[in-house]
Amino acid sequence: VRFLLGDEPVTITTADPAADPTGTLLDWLRDSKRRTGTKEGCAEGDCGACTVAIGRPALDDAGNPTLRYEAVNACIRFLPTLDGCRVLTVEDLAAPDGTLHPCQQAMVDCHGSQCGFCTPGFVMSLFARFRDGAGTPDGAVPGSIDDALAGNLCRCTGYRPIVDAAARMADIAPTDLVAGQDHLSAGDRAAARTLATWADARTIDITGPDGRRFLAPADLDSLADLVAAHPEATILSGGTDVGLWVTKQLRVLDTVIWTGRVADLARITNEGPHLRIGAAVTYTAAHGALAALYPDMGELVRRIGGRQVRNMGTIGGNIANGSPIGDTPPALIAAGALLVLRHGAEPGGAEQRIIPLEDFFLEYRRQDRRKGEFVEAVLLPKPEPGLIYRAYKVSKRFDQDISAVCGAFALTITDGIVRTARLAYGGMAGVPKRAAGAEAALTGRPWTEATVRDAMAALAGDFTPMTDMRAGAGYRARVAANLLYRCWLEAQGGVETRLVGAGALPVEALAVEPVTGEVGHAG
Ligand SMILES: Cc1cc2nc3c(=O)[nH]c(=O)nc-3n(C[C@H](O)[C@H](O)[C@H](O)COP(=O)(O)OP(=O)(O)OC[C@H]3O[C@@H](n4cnc5c(N)ncnc54)[C@H](O)[C@@H]3O)c2cc1C
Ligand code: FES
Ligand code: FES
Repeated sequence: VRFLLGDEPVTITTADPAADPTGTLLDWLRDSKRRTGTKEGCAEGDCGACTVAIGRPALDDAGNPTLRYEAVNACIRFLPTLDGCRVLTVEDLAAPDGTLHPCQQAMVDCHGSQCGFCTPGFVMSLFARFRDGAGTPDGAVPGSIDDALAGNLCRCTGYRPIVDAAARMADIAPTDLVAGQDHLSAGDRAAARTLATWADARTIDITGPDGRRFLAPADLDSLADLVAAHPEATILSGGTDVGLWVTKQLRVLDTVIWTGRVADLARITNEGPHLRIGAAVTYTAAHGALAALYPDMGELVRRIGGRQVRNMGTIGGNIANGSPIGDTPPALIAAGALLVLRHGAEPGGAEQRIIPLEDFFLEYRRQDRRKGEFVEAVLLPKPEPGLIYRAYKVSKRFDQDISAVCGAFALTITDGIVRTARLAYGGMAGVPKRAAGAEAALTGRPWTEATVRDAMAALAGDFTPMTDMRAGAGYRARVAANLLYRCWLEAQGGVETRLVGAGALPVEALAVEPVTGEVGHAG
């Protein structure tokens, strides 16, 4: 495993104490490297105190090698998954002469820090945003700032000064910001060259001091071979679930097979009537393509976790983990997605199964994944013209929260008659599930409010939701029905149903007085 910490090359080999397959980047930074600017708050990807920036080789607009940075949560990021990256922490940001980075200076100028515990994490999120070009004046719109910072929590300062700091960055170093350059940019070019010389196609196979093993193949066939040979191993993608098994449940994973080096799994390609999404495509990488085909699917994905979680978590992991409240399965099921499962490598031993995504979910946390098999891709049908598609997430907080109920609907209507209806829900059963009764109540019937109300009533026969900390059973049942009604209202047009996100009213159209005067301490 080879990566750069700032400008320092790091190599991890078998029996190195850092070769623990599930050791976190956060612990290593703090305990081994004494980079204690990176903080531990929640150790589960929720608070952003541990945010660092990870740069991967890419080409700039002129075709020169550079790095593209993303903010990630170091607390749930296993150290060996940094192979091939440049890691920057808050200690890297100030220039060698001590001049603060614009992200830091803006936080100082806007009083964006009090106890300071959250500050390095906010600064690193701002840095990643700055480096992906969103720090330019054009990018400094409130929506995108909120989006970049939704994965960072502050308990003292209130968000207003921090959001001000994000907006202020454009005033502090306009030339640099417009160019997207800072004192670290030159190092990026050198780092990109170094990382390119390190890249190779061999499987990473390191064993920690206690005999636990980390495997990271570089191609699909090697992955298939390894998963078939080690059916008991934990497949690791973004680690936004698996990371918590380790940090919260203290599980000991003996063999970990990481999918993050397999380029084929990280691709989105057109395949006839389908968009093929490799299992290791992150939410961030998938967002644009999904939003272009199904705007509501894009909006749903934008609301998964914070930016740091979306930069790591994958569509394949969201499916494979079989959670009844995962957000992408209902959205994909409603759209008619297929799942590609693979066992073994070619030639001779390869076996591929393609199944409707809904058939993958057998019962609570039990999926149709055979021994030695893994999720290779999702095939998402491109929508037919005229398809009505809506996906809604209902959660206690708007951003960075898990769904209480998620509803996704795809309807074809011609001559006023519902020809096809696919309705899928999350949070309503032990698995993401279609609403067969409600679909039957719609199909072949006139697309009228009476029909929709019949389908809403039929949902009572489709689901017996449970009460848990996210929502009561009665609430879930009512929300599920009302989401269908909302879909109907939106399809009629003229009724505004959203305040933010895709399909929302423009801000200036909202009949709300602007907030003036003092804004409360809590922001
Ligand atoms: C702070 C936070 C907020 C979150 N918010 C949301 C949210 O709003 N909505 C939501 O739906 N989820 C949310 N999640 C959950 C998480 O992001 C998803 O479940 C994520 O998609 C898992 O993907 P991953 O790549 O991180 O998977 P991993 O954690 O790497 O793996 C998850 C599971 O899938 C298996 N797996 C992974 N890849 C494969 C494969 N190719 N083949 C077979 N098995 C595989 C793993 O073995 C494991 O069982 C949140 C998580 C965190 C930490
Ligand atoms: S410590 Fe809270 S997100 Fe990592
Ligand atoms: S300044 Fe104290 S938590 Fe943010």
